[in-house]
Amino acid sequence: MKGKDSMELFIKGIPKAELHLHIEGTLEPEMLFKMAKRNSVRIKYRTVEEVKAAYNFRNLQDFLNVYYEGTSVLRNEQDFYDLTWAYLEKACSQNVLHTEIFFDPQAHTRRGIKFDTVITGVRRALRDGEQKLGISTRLIMCILRDLNVESAFQTLEEALSYKDWITAIGLNSAEVGHPPSKFQKVFEKALENGFLTVAHAGEEGPAEYIWEAIRLLKVSRIDHGNRAVEDENLLRELARKGIPLTMCPISNLKLGVIKNMEGHPLKKIMEMGIVVTVNSDDPAYFGGYINENYLAVQKALGLNAHQICTLARNSFQASFLSRSEKHDMLMKLEKYAKEYAT
Ligand code: ADE
Ligand code: ZN
Repeated sequence: MKGKDSMELFIKGIPKAELHLHIEGTLEPEMLFKMAKRNSVRIKYRTVEEVKAAYNFRNLQDFLNVYYEGTSVLRNEQDFYDLTWAYLEKACSQNVLHTEIFFDPQAHTRRGIKFDTVITGVRRALRDGEQKLGISTRLIMCILRDLNVESAFQTLEEALSYKDWITAIGLNSAEVGHPPSKFQKVFEKALENGFLTVAHAGEEGPAEYIWEAIRLLKVSRIDHGNRAVEDENLLRELARKGIPLTMCPISNLKLGVIKNMEGHPLKKIMEMGIVVTVNSDDPAYFGGYINENYLAVQKALGLNAHQICTLARNSFQASFLSRSEKHDMLMKLEKYAKEYAT
């Protein structure tokens, strides 16, 4: 690998999977305006520039306020289709072979939009993505942890009618004060019904929340997990159990989880033998899709081509794909790495 430009090309072209992506977080300002107009929804911005200027967040809650406000323009099945389709085209252009998408039904049902409208639109785009773009997908339904347990149960109940479309149940939104333990019973029911589980933990919340997500919610992956670095025993447990962390470097910078990219814990965590992946979280709000995230962390932490390959390999290994699907995608990755090295 010679020079900065070839590292950039290597990252852009490497086959990869995205495992931490909120579909509502892919709503670009241009689409926000288009949908506001066609649905006659009033928004407080007049220009794309004004929207972008508002995307200056001090912390997670600051961001969530803007993010939930953005969802107000999503009203019809076609809106959820268009949103998802635009993301899939973008992901494809960045050599994402497989993506696992979060959606937040409660952000819509609490505004009077039907669960069915949301999931049908997203699902139709996912099917088109598989057929027309050749991109592989899975869907993860997130529970909003700052809402009550009853609402979480109701949402899970609705999800049961769409079991075949949903692979896993996740946990997101405002973390501090809403520990995983609050949703233990909901996740027990999800597991009983055959869903896998994941949870955002250790983004703003303490390492203890990561322990709870593992022990009480029986998660297959931790989303973010930055604050695991504060607990040596937890790091050892993550490595021993092979529980992956889906990290989102640009998101962390934009939400003040880290002070600068050079201080991102990804490299240290990787070197402890923990499976780490790179993802974009809410790319329309943070100004970077998956490749920009790889590039940012490569540059700031001085990752070499071998480490970039490890991150891409981890993304397939940590996914919810079947063994044979993983195998096929990993073969594509190894072929790419070999060709690039020669
Ligand atoms: N919802 C969308 N993005 C999120 C994040 N980074 N953390 C928690 N909840 C979210
Ligand atoms: Zn997230």
